[in-house]
Amino acid sequence: MSQQPIRFAYWVPNVSGGLVVSKIEQRTHWDIDYNRQLARIAEDAGFDYALTQIRFTAGYGAEYQHESVAFSHALLGATEKLKVIAAILPGPWTPALAAKQLATIDQLTGGRIAVNIVSGWFKGEFQAIGEPWLEHDERYRRSEEFIRALKGIWTQDNFSFHGDFYRFHDYNLKPRPLQRPNPEIFQGGSSRAARDMASRVSDWYFTNGNSVEGIKAQVDDIREKAAANGHAVKIGVNAFVIARNTEEEARAVLAEIIDKADPEAVNAFGHAAKQAGAASPEGEGNWAKSSLEDLVQYNDGFKTNLIGTPQQIAERIVALKAVGVDLVLTGFLHFQEEVRYFGEKVLPLVRELEQKKARQTEAA
Ligand SMILES: Cc1cc2nc3c(=O)[nH]c(=O)nc-3n(C[C@H](O)[C@H](O)[C@H](O)COP(=O)(O)O)c2cc1C
Repeated sequence: MSQQPIRFAYWVPNVSGGLVVSKIEQRTHWDIDYNRQLARIAEDAGFDYALTQIRFTAGYGAEYQHESVAFSHALLGATEKLKVIAAILPGPWTPALAAKQLATIDQLTGGRIAVNIVSGWFKGEFQAIGEPWLEHDERYRRSEEFIRALKGIWTQDNFSFHGDFYRFHDYNLKPRPLQRPNPEIFQGGSSRAARDMASRVSDWYFTNGNSVEGIKAQVDDIREKAAANGHAVKIGVNAFVIARNTEEEARAVLAEIIDKADPEAVNAFGHAAKQAGAASPEGEGNWAKSSLEDLVQYNDGFKTNLIGTPQQIAERIVALKAVGVDLVLTGFLHFQEEVRYFGEKVLPLVRELEQKKARQTEAA
């Protein structure tokens, strides 16, 4: 088990409708004032990272969407320690633009930007903005070249690259980002192609929610392949957190979210997402095995089961750490108040349990 404390990130609600496709009341807002305040609450609560989302069109209720890089920059301006991970979609972005734009933000913010390279799941979105829709593994081949180019531009003089998607000739980026060797590069996705890419080029692998066993299988696969490639990659897992003083209260909230799910929107999302999941040759990408109830949280966040009392949740987080998870990416129903509660009630228990485990390991 890693000796490092497990880290925490939260999903930035920069799209409307919150993190669940449900008509339940959500005291979460997608505007910048709410989000600036949330970012400050999160850094005070002990969160290390915030993750913005990129969507060009509504997919399942998220009718309004602020762009990820501009929004990330605004959140960095409102905070002092928090790192903000901006989602970047190859296709609409080129590596030249992303490298330049993010190097500038890194310079302006004391080295606190990171990126999440996402490969796309929604054909309708690409069609709407006139971007060619590549087939599943081709999307990952492009993302891998994107990451290699991004890293190369950020770390090498006279960078040259001759790929199938991108080309560079003696390129010198000035100034380079403040962070060395480079701002951290995350990636999102769970298919075999995603795991292979993580084991070759990414600094972090982000995956959808899952059981401890489901996560362990992915971690083992990636770590084995990464070791063979001489590459190190860290693991982040999505979870929708419902922490309440009693387990009954937490379960009742989950039941209400599902009860008030918007079936039309969930079905539409489920259809597009399952196509994306089934589209990988092995049919095992994100959502390939999701039930309709799972899809109410659109990144399978209920499956991780961080639903219950602070003690139960802390124990489950430490169990995730024991199978190799380095970071938990959290979503909440009422973001501001629940991020604060998480920092007060759950995080101290996690740190206590981590220290207890470390003492046991030392004694053994
Ligand atoms: C944590 C996480 C965040 C993601 N964020 C976005 C996003 O902001 N925009 C987007 O279009 N796709 C996003 N995705 C989707 C992935 O890039 C990918 O298309 C999807 O997970 C399907 O990949 P797979 O077939 O490898 O599982 C995200 C995925 C994960 C796990």
